Amino acid sequence: MSATPVPEMADRAATCAERLRAAERVLVVSHIDADGLTSAAIAGTALKRAGIPHEQTFYKQLDETAVAELAATDYETVLFTDFGSGQLPEILAHAEGDGFTPVIVDHHQPAETDVNPPYHLNPLLFGINGARELSGAGAAYVLARALESSGVDNRDLAATAVVGAVGDMQDSGGQLHGANAAIVEEGVAAGALAEGKDLAVYGKQTRPLPKLLEYATDTHVPGISSSYAGAVEFLDGLDVDCQVEGDWKRWVDLTDAERRRVASALVQHAVRRGVPARKIEQLVATTYTLTAEPEGTELRDASEFSTLLNATARYERADVGLAVCLGDRTGALKRARELLRTHRRNLSEGLNWVKRQGVTDAGSIQWFDAGDEIRETIVGIVAGMSMGVDGVDRSKPVVAFAEESGTETKVSARGTAGLVREGLDLSVVMSEASAAVGGNGGGHDIAAGATIPAGKEETFIQHADQLVADQLG
Ligand code: C5P
Ligand code: C5P
Ligand code: ZN
Repeated sequence: MSATPVPEMADRAATCAERLRAAERVLVVSHIDADGLTSAAIAGTALKRAGIPHEQTFYKQLDETAVAELAATDYETVLFTDFGSGQLPEILAHAEGDGFTPVIVDHHQPAETDVNPPYHLNPLLFGINGARELSGAGAAYVLARALESSGVDNRDLAATAVVGAVGDMQDSGGQLHGANAAIVEEGVAAGALAEGKDLAVYGKQTRPLPKLLEYATDTHVPGISSSYAGAVEFLDGLDVDCQVEGDWKRWVDLTDAERRRVASALVQHAVRRGVPARKIEQLVATTYTLTAEPEGTELRDASEFSTLLNATARYERADVGLAVCLGDRTGALKRARELLRTHRRNLSEGLNWVKRQGVTDAGSIQWFDAGDEIRETIVGIVAGMSMGVDGVDRSKPVVAFAEESGTETKVSARGTAGLVREGLDLSVVMSEASAAVGGNGGGHDIAAGATIPAGKEETFIQHADQLVADQLG
């Protein structure tokens, strides 16, 4: 079978699949976030179905030390998913002899090299945008389709690929595009996914209605967003039964007609309160439903599923998230839900901290230093969320620092689609500004990160600010 959702990548995927089939066993190495976990689950499942023995491991960041560590294991073949492109030179250095036989399946900006190895599968090499059109999980899905042999159909894995893409916020314009959309189509055809237009708020499967509306702050609806009492008053004023036996229903408990009624009342309310048309449009978006998962669970909704996964991997429990992706619905799911409570609390406390402290304007960028107030593994998510709050200017990228260790500082940068259209490329900014202070970094145009020596934050800001000023002209 040579089916592929992304024809541009088909030949390269076939070459990578060939390399994996020739392996006695494979070590799958992946990144500790939702996209990394789903990449690992897709690759692992496809290898299993192809009869290729494998094991999985995760890294927070793939640096020179990590690559050397992997080269020293007795695995001959190492499959990198959701990272590796940024470390191409380090990987190439171990690629022959007594190192390892690598296969890289990634969507990050590749590091500069003169070579174009045949085992490097990355949408950016084929004219496909790695920040908006294909995630790491999507690239792993392309590989999974190439690993199919007769009798194997990996299209069910499209659902997992969509969780990865949504986890990487590739649906930020309200829906998935390009290669991602082709994967959605395959998932729908395979019966693993359903897509529909719905209210664009997080928690439709699991949150009681007033909480759902109170926490829906991407589009601020005055009198309802951030106000439990306001949300209750709004719901009470509708001709919809929002409670059953004294308990609030969730969005999934409403009928289609009721959902439409609530959504249109919310839009009318927003219009009356003067919310701009552009923001009102964002109240409705495409949602992706995992049809095999029970209704009313986090797993049913791609967005909630991806948050559940971030709640594991970013807290050193990638094993838990991977087990959930692979179908564990007992112990691992229970543990993941516990971790989710902590993760939510940390995000909300982190965002409140940023709101209290505010950001510092450096000219072309704005920044905050969270020190040890925000965990370095989630400071990027908080930086992204901070772009919507009062006091943070959406016309400048946000750069955030957090303590990584006594000697190293983690940097996370987030921009907007509008800034990227004007020329912003945070992957270049993070990579060059960190190199200037003896660190390293990379990522995507719209979201990138770095690790720098502690104490170099100020110099780093000066470099980053200048680079952004140059990019935005
Ligand atoms: O390493 P990885 O590619 O998986 O991380 C992507 C990060 O970039 C995620 O934290 C995601 O939230 C962020 N991102 C974003 N907006 C986009 C694309 C990615 O904030 N449009
Ligand atoms: O950690 P954070 O969510 O801010 O990362 C944003 C993006 O930058 C991710 O895609 C991540 O893989 C990338 N990154 C990188 N090198 C680093 C830190 C982050 O390529 N040192
Ligand atoms: Zn990714």
